Amino acid sequence: MYQLTAASRFQQENRQLPESVLTETIMTMVSHASVRQYKPDPVPEEALEAILTAARSASTSSNLQMYSIIVVRDPEHREQLAQLSGDQDHIRQAPLFLVFVADLHRLEVVCQRQGYPLGDRYMEMFIQAVVDTALAAQNAAVAAESLGLGICYIGAIRNRPLEVAQLLKLPPRTLALVGMTVGYPERPAKIKPRLPAEVTVHMEEYSDAALEEGLAAYDNIMAETGIYKNREVPVDGQPGVTRLYGWCEHSARRMAKPHPTRREIKRTLEQLGWEFD
Ligand SMILES: Cc1cc2nc3c(=O)[nH]c(=O)nc-3n(C[C@H](O)[C@H](O)[C@H](O)COP(=O)(O)O)c2cc1C
Repeated sequence: MYQLTAASRFQQENRQLPESVLTETIMTMVSHASVRQYKPDPVPEEALEAILTAARSASTSSNLQMYSIIVVRDPEHREQLAQLSGDQDHIRQAPLFLVFVADLHRLEVVCQRQGYPLGDRYMEMFIQAVVDTALAAQNAAVAAESLGLGICYIGAIRNRPLEVAQLLKLPPRTLALVGMTVGYPERPAKIKPRLPAEVTVHMEEYSDAALEEGLAAYDNIMAETGIYKNREVPVDGQPGVTRLYGWCEHSARRMAKPHPTRREIKRTLEQLGWEFD
């Protein structure tokens, strides 16, 4: 059942490593590429169960397991979630949509059951719930990819959190943190280059020493992929002259203004029953 993808990040970065460290798990991880076009074939029931069990096996802070996973297969339900998540077509197209929910509600029920107050309910517990939920989601992603399925995270599920909460009947003190489309890829997705290791990996202590060189190299690599084609940056005072549109320009533009709907997320979370102070 397991099939190694021909392409991997090792190949992309021309890294030579001995067979002894190229486990199937690592090969699955370094072959990751988000899939946004799916075949209509359903995800087999037993594959879904394996994926969910892998998700539930992730490490979890103090074994509190502060997440819930909502399995969405019904096409109409997926349509509604697609509309609430930036109208992304792959949510409609993928036969399976998983919603990973950060969940402090269950522990409140447990406290009530045992006769205790929910005393620890502030910012730190939100962080713990988010970390637990993200770890479960990533385990699900790796499991799905190891089965030859494709996935794509959907952060846009946080575009309209109150409406998503209503649709999914989420109780107070929860948040639909991230969605995930799952299905068989229509075609193999391209692996997207990452920042050079020298930029994101630091030895013993943090250092920006390799940052400038690494960013310049990465800008060129990303521009070459064609991801940013037809975008260019005019140079002030020099009509007709442009400079490279690469990852730096793209990311800086992205960071220059707050997300249009998520700027208010703290207040929205408070409406969903989370407490921070
Ligand atoms: C938390 C999170 C949210 C994301 N949200 C979306 C999304 O709403 N729509 C989408 O098409 N891709 C989404 N992605 C996928 C990223 O765009 C993708 O992982 C990134 O561009 C790197 O590409 P790769 O996964 O193919 O390596 C998200 C990824 C993460 C981790």
